[in-house]
Amino acid sequence: MKPALDARLHPWNVRWGRTAAAIETAAVFALAGLPFSVHAGLEEGRAKSQVCAACHGADGNSVIPTIPSLAGQPRQFITQALFMFREGQRKNEQMTPFTAKLSNADLNDLALYFSSQKLTVPTRKPEGDIVARGRAVTEKNNCVACHTATLVGQQHIPRLAGQHKAYLLEQLKGFKASTRADLDGTMTSAAQGLAVDELEMVAEYLATFVAP
Ligand code: HEC
Ligand code: HEC
Repeated sequence: MKPALDARLHPWNVRWGRTAAAIETAAVFALAGLPFSVHAGLEEGRAKSQVCAACHGADGNSVIPTIPSLAGQPRQFITQALFMFREGQRKNEQMTPFTAKLSNADLNDLALYFSSQKLTVPTRKPEGDIVARGRAVTEKNNCVACHTATLVGQQHIPRLAGQHKAYLLEQLKGFKASTRADLDGTMTSAAQGLAVDELEMVAEYLATFVAP
């Protein structure tokens, strides 16, 4: 008896099978709300981020107080920060060498990956009346106008909520002393408006701030 042709191998079914698989894949992306190219970038970003993990944590949640978490940072901010390191506008002994060989596509893929990771909610509670005082300082100095009311950042402006205190304090001191590079000078003038004891208070407030 002649064996029957496996139905799955019939040309029509093969074609339909592929189409069905494509529709299925498309549906998965549609559910995730992501176009194909973005999904590809995300996977590329995940692969390229392995070299960053030793310092920034596997999913961008750093466990080293002087190294910033990248999870949940606005995508544009990450691209821009990487660009500034690569072009030598922002300098750091540890960070700069890792940007030398990155292409523009790498910057975008890495930014897409880290911006879509979830930042671990800070568990430490601020001491004393730091919440009220920190909030007063950030409102009085209009930090919220740029960094948003929930301090999660937007576009080219970084998220501050839940970032490591030691890192934030170092950056604020750097802006005040004009040693930390600043895209457009607005951060330097913002930090110069703060007294030294306010920098400490603000860093504590931001590090323990849980964005709603
Ligand atoms: C050897 C440790 C180390 C490695 C590896 C490393 N970084 Fe960094 N990164 C740092 C340090 C330290 C800083 C803070 C620099 C500063 O104080 O200005 C930083 C800062 C950054 C910032 C700026 C964040 C902010 O909030 O301003 C970005 C973005 C960043 N790194 C991305 C990456 C990416 C992407 C990789 C992998 C390609 C990577 N880093 C690898 C140590 C590292
Ligand atoms: C006019 C808009 C604006 C205002 C107001 C402003 N910022 Fe910023 N801030 C920025 C921008 C833009 C950057 C990114 C600068 C860069 O990387 O070149 C930044 C960066 C920072 C960083 C570095 C974070 C990181 O991950 O590297 C800290 C900390 C910060 N701001 C705190 C504050 C505080 C505290 C205030 C209020 C006293 C404030 N900012 C007011 C726009 C602003």
